[in-house]
Amino acid sequence: MNRVGLRPGLDLRGDALNASDRSVLHAGRTPVARRGFSGVAAALAAERFRCHEQGPSGRPLALAGARCRPPLDDVEVVRVVNSIARPHQRDYETEQARRPGARTTRATTHGTHGKNRGIPLKHLVVVAHPAAHSFTLALARTYAAELERLGHSQRTYDLYRMEFNPVLTAQELLPVTVDHSASPDVLIAQDDIRAADALSVIYPLWWMSMPAMMKGFVDRVFARGFAYEAHDGIVRGLLSGKQAVLITISGAPLPQLVKSGGWNAVQVLQDTHVLRSTGFELLEHLHFDEIVPNISNVVAEQCMARVRDCARKNFSLGREVATK
Ligand SMILES: Cc1cc2nc3c(=O)[nH]c(=O)nc-3n(C[C@H](O)[C@H](O)[C@H](O)COP(=O)(O)O)c2cc1C
Repeated sequence: MNRVGLRPGLDLRGDALNASDRSVLHAGRTPVARRGFSGVAAALAAERFRCHEQGPSGRPLALAGARCRPPLDDVEVVRVVNSIARPHQRDYETEQARRPGARTTRATTHGTHGKNRGIPLKHLVVVAHPAAHSFTLALARTYAAELERLGHSQRTYDLYRMEFNPVLTAQELLPVTVDHSASPDVLIAQDDIRAADALSVIYPLWWMSMPAMMKGFVDRVFARGFAYEAHDGIVRGLLSGKQAVLITISGAPLPQLVKSGGWNAVQVLQDTHVLRSTGFELLEHLHFDEIVPNISNVVAEQCMARVRDCARKNFSLGREVATK
């Protein structure tokens, strides 16, 4: 049995996670039904995984509904892209129409999560990008400043500037006991997550995934016993009651990512497998596409407006004042 209680050697790639889904039939060149024993074993394992993985409430996780698919047809690409890009675009346009020239509107009341209204929260913002003057870091700074302006407290983990060590060691794989505790930097990060009401994670998509620095943060800090526990093949997230926002950046246009299935992989592996399955309520996954070197100041400022809007939409206390 491995760390999440599954037998070793099982194929838990995205396509195998959909044993009863049509996508399995299209995964790779050979339909699973014709792959022989290993394909069937993978499909059975996937079904077992789907059945056993449960959220904190005991309900099956959304993982079962999030699928890795083969490339989509154009109609579906447009539908998916619109469902991702439109709300932000609309919010931004609405805001511009309301207050030309102003950075924020009068008291904002369009927070999507009423339970946040009126309650200052503790935020932890975790960002990974090696260049201090990158677009990614600029987004993180703008977002964190907006949280503070809204009346929240925030702490930012700029993983590169902190010189966070992303390498999980063999020692850290040993169970935590009275004689052996987690590494000091991991314990501090876990305390900060424990103390936070909301976690916001910001990174560029590198090879359609998070930078190794961020992955190492997840590997080491989201450890068994802190972020999840697993018994008899049942995995349970331990960070429920906390909210999360995910902000990602890509060089490629979103339609291209959606069409290739890459976007779906991001949603399965990053939104769901990392954040939702550890118990977070993912309030929003905000994505900035076509971010290439030397984007114009106009586009950059539009992006900063969108990230400020994201903070307001999800965490408005309903009492902030307008600023010029
Ligand atoms: C190592 C590396 C891998 C990348 N992989 C992808 C990718 O898979 N898909 C994509 O759209 N962009 C990819 N990019 C482009 C970055 O996502 C994009 O340049 C970056 O997010 C822009 O933000 P920045 O100015 O803060 O770096 C990659 C960039 C690097 C450096």
